[in-house]
Amino acid sequence: MQVVWVLVFLTISTLVEGSTNDTIVYLWPLPKSVSYGSQSLSLSKSFKFSTDGGKYLDSSGILKDGFLRMFDDITLQHNMVGGNFKNGSYILEGVRVTISSTEEKLNYGTDESYKLSVPQSTGAPVYGHIEANTVFGALHGLQTFSQLCQFNPETRVIDIQNAPWVISDEPRFAYRGLLIDTSRHYQPLSMIKKTIDAMAYTKLNVLHWHIVDTQSFPLEIPSYPKLWNGAYSVSERYTMADALEIVQYAEKQGVNVLAEVDVPGHAMSWGVGYPELWPAHNCKQPLDVSKEFTFQVIDGILSDFSKVFKFKMVHLGGDEVHMGCWNKTHIKKWLKKKHMNTSDAYQYFILRAQDIAIKHGYEIINWEEPFNNFGSKLNPKTIVQNWMTGGVAKKAVKKGFRCILSKQESWYLDHLDITWEQFYLFEPLKGIKNTTHQKLIIGGEVCMWGETVDASDIEQTIWPRAAAAAERMWMPYVKHSGRLKFDVEKRLDHFRCLLNQRGVAAAPLFGSGRDAPLDPGSCYMQ
Ligand SMILES: *[C@@H]1O[C@H](CO)[C@@H](O)[C@H](O)[C@H]1NC(C)=O
Ligand SMILES: *[C@@H]1O[C@H](CO)[C@@H](O)[C@H](O)[C@H]1NC(C)=O
Ligand SMILES: *[C@@H]1O[C@H](CO)[C@@H](O)[C@H](O)[C@H]1NC(C)=O
Ligand SMILES: *[C@@H]1O[C@H](CO)[C@@H](O)[C@H](O)[C@H]1NC(C)=O
Ligand SMILES: *[C@@H]1O[C@H](CO)[C@@H](O)[C@H](O)[C@H]1NC(C)=O
Repeated sequence: MQVVWVLVFLTISTLVEGSTNDTIVYLWPLPKSVSYGSQSLSLSKSFKFSTDGGKYLDSSGILKDGFLRMFDDITLQHNMVGGNFKNGSYILEGVRVTISSTEEKLNYGTDESYKLSVPQSTGAPVYGHIEANTVFGALHGLQTFSQLCQFNPETRVIDIQNAPWVISDEPRFAYRGLLIDTSRHYQPLSMIKKTIDAMAYTKLNVLHWHIVDTQSFPLEIPSYPKLWNGAYSVSERYTMADALEIVQYAEKQGVNVLAEVDVPGHAMSWGVGYPELWPAHNCKQPLDVSKEFTFQVIDGILSDFSKVFKFKMVHLGGDEVHMGCWNKTHIKKWLKKKHMNTSDAYQYFILRAQDIAIKHGYEIINWEEPFNNFGSKLNPKTIVQNWMTGGVAKKAVKKGFRCILSKQESWYLDHLDITWEQFYLFEPLKGIKNTTHQKLIIGGEVCMWGETVDASDIEQTIWPRAAAAAERMWMPYVKHSGRLKFDVEKRLDHFRCLLNQRGVAAAPLFGSGRDAPLDPGSCYMQ
């Protein structure tokens, strides 16, 4: 992996005529391999994205929509009033896309690789080319292409510097997630969509939707229509049709939606509509383990989920279960009858919920606590999400479980004191040497817990720090050095400004969390 990186930099410095040590490829995340030259091209007035052979039919319009979005991402609302672009300059007439499969269903493991080339011109107009195995790889290629483009205010055309470009790219990890939490604060649909847009810019591919929690239950569940009585207000709700709209919107951008229903803790809001889910009126969580009704409700939720959330996995939470209410209420008697203590009941609950999810065709993700407490009992299809304890990922993969890294001291976005560098430097495979075990680390996820974010500040809390982690999960591993840090910081500065230009409220790199700029100055110097 390190060899590839060295290759990238060697190629850059040897290919660029008169290159200085300050030569930086302004791409984020950095592709697996890049080479470029020194010619400047301008996009033709009649510049077009088009398909060129291949098997893909675009019956869902994924590529067509991608092309349309690309124009906005490239022009950045500048007015292209340029004159005769063909006069005396090198012209890029368009980008042709070749996709070798008809596949248009996105899921875990979808091929996301692509190759992008922008040739040199000898005077005649030329075409760029994207080749990919799936439309989702092609979308990544388009994103990379859009970052090569820059508006030239003097000529009023879009330029591409440093042609010819040859880029060959694929992700390092198959699972590259961002969690949003719509229970602690409701997020309007428009904000969820904006988050998805920015995920596509950074090549993140799983939106982990932590939909419900203790504080509120905003989602409609047709099987149990009183559950969303636990929403904060009438206007802070999502219909199932809204959820489907989000899933489809995300899919069109190559982003999967992982739905979470966190049980048996973090579920107090369920009882607003169905108080029988509480152990008692004065002791409201975890969910009542003793009632069949509890599992019927979970079954109903997952049955409704399975019609809308087609991602292979569902998240069943399982974290921070404080079982005091199972000891004090009517449940105490039930435990005695069943010869269980509270720990047994916790295990019983998690395993039953897992069985229900499997029945609905899902694989399961749980936060790490079930693994820590009764790892050997978990369904082998379980994926362990390590957020808390050091060494858990290593133990989990050793036992053959797949694992996702979200360590709170590095990848929790609600921890405002974690800097972008710390996000960047966190390494999911740290301490895991065995290659069989490494393959079970399927990726990572940054988590935007919602206690202090609503639609007024979520964007600047997520970005640009989530983008730092996105590059870590995308590009080949590279050991950090002072020289690299300079490049990385410059590139991320540049990317942060691009996010701003595209309407994403990404915060300055300076300081931590979501700080505002301190003084007047260029976007690139904050
Ligand atoms: C690039 O860095 C090397 C080693 O630090 C130095 O010898 C060389 O002069 C530098 N080249 C330029 C163009 O700055
Ligand atoms: C085209 O280029 C020539 C030579 O550079 C220049 O003299 C002429 O004014 C240009 N024409 C237009 C329409 O820009
Ligand atoms: C439940 O009660 C038993 C017996 O009093 C005690 O050992 C156990 O720690 C209690 N568990 C919880 C979760 O409170
Ligand atoms: C609960 O019971 C199991 C056996 O069923 C035992 O292994 C475990 O230590 C007990 N846990 C507690 C907290 O008493
Ligand atoms: C790596 O792990 C696998 C599976 O646990 C084991 O069979 C293999 O011996 C390990 N390899 C090394 C070099 O330790």
